Amino acid sequence: MTKISASALRDDFFAVAPSATTRIVELHTENLAEDAARLLAGLLAADARTDPKFFYDAQGSALFDAICQLDEYHPTRIEASIFSEAREAIAVEISRALPDGFQWVDLGAGDAAKSRDWLSAVAPRRYVGVDIADAWLRPAVARIAEAHPDLDAIGVVADLTRPQMLAPVLDEVSEPPLFFYPGSSIGNFEPLRAITLLRTLRQLGGGFGGLLIGVDCERDAGRLEAAYDDALGVTAAFNRNVLRVANRVLGADFDPRAFAHRAWFNAEERRIEMHLVASTQQTVRFTQPLPAERDFEAGEHIVTEYSYKYTPARFGALLDAAGFSSHRVWQDPARRFAVFLAIA
Ligand code: AVJ
Repeated sequence: MTKISASALRDDFFAVAPSATTRIVELHTENLAEDAARLLAGLLAADARTDPKFFYDAQGSALFDAICQLDEYHPTRIEASIFSEAREAIAVEISRALPDGFQWVDLGAGDAAKSRDWLSAVAPRRYVGVDIADAWLRPAVARIAEAHPDLDAIGVVADLTRPQMLAPVLDEVSEPPLFFYPGSSIGNFEPLRAITLLRTLRQLGGGFGGLLIGVDCERDAGRLEAAYDDALGVTAAFNRNVLRVANRVLGADFDPRAFAHRAWFNAEERRIEMHLVASTQQTVRFTQPLPAERDFEAGEHIVTEYSYKYTPARFGALLDAAGFSSHRVWQDPARRFAVFLAIA
């Protein structure tokens, strides 16, 4: 999942032959069977739902890159503009808070494009790229190692919903972690779960370290909804792709054409909701990890994503609840997006 995704740049990434010494730690493989069981359980539940992490196979990641380039999808571009405006100021704050050095921990690194400008600005001791998909991670880490020969660069294949698994890797060196969690990915967590995740990140530093995080802000429903229901139908394809993933992971026979994409802002819960709505009555069969069957009535919904939106004050309160001792926030002039630096 990348900010800059021109194909020229992507080709450039793959043009670097990963060196034999690129270290990739696999923490995820042991959970694959459990993931499939959870995906099946969600699809068989009366209120069917899928976890957003199942969007991101190779095709889903490519569709997400396309979303980031849509006229209607603002977060990626606005976050990038805040980063470039505030980079120097944020770098000063980081070196003040962590004068003895730190590890830059890139959560959801993808091809690590979002970290590249930061690494020169903040000069960490170590780069740790974390992603659930290893395909881009290896070349991305190799590329970073080549651009920054003094940096100890490693990749970790892990599921961000289980960040405590990172502890043994982070404890290999004495510097505390500075977590980099851009793109408003935190929006996928329900607020109480977001607090738990943020608290775990703070605790992983043993009371030291920090978090640089991007958060999409609440604003007029019309503009927000257009970002999740674009004119070209790219988000619709991204949403339906989860059915293709289910077909592969669960040996299922979903027909993605038989489900319509729906997205709207739920003002009470302060979240965008994405659903897939069955357009006709249908029966779906599953063969893995167990044989199963499910009927969908015409009009029945599968909830595929919640994307929570925050005001700076409300997200600040989340950081406080997670135990961070202080934070600062930077925004674009129209206040559509917020970047927080929180100190453990
Ligand atoms: C990657 C979770 C930040 O919620 O905006 C984009 C995912 N879904 N369009 C978001 C997404 C549909 C995105 N996040």
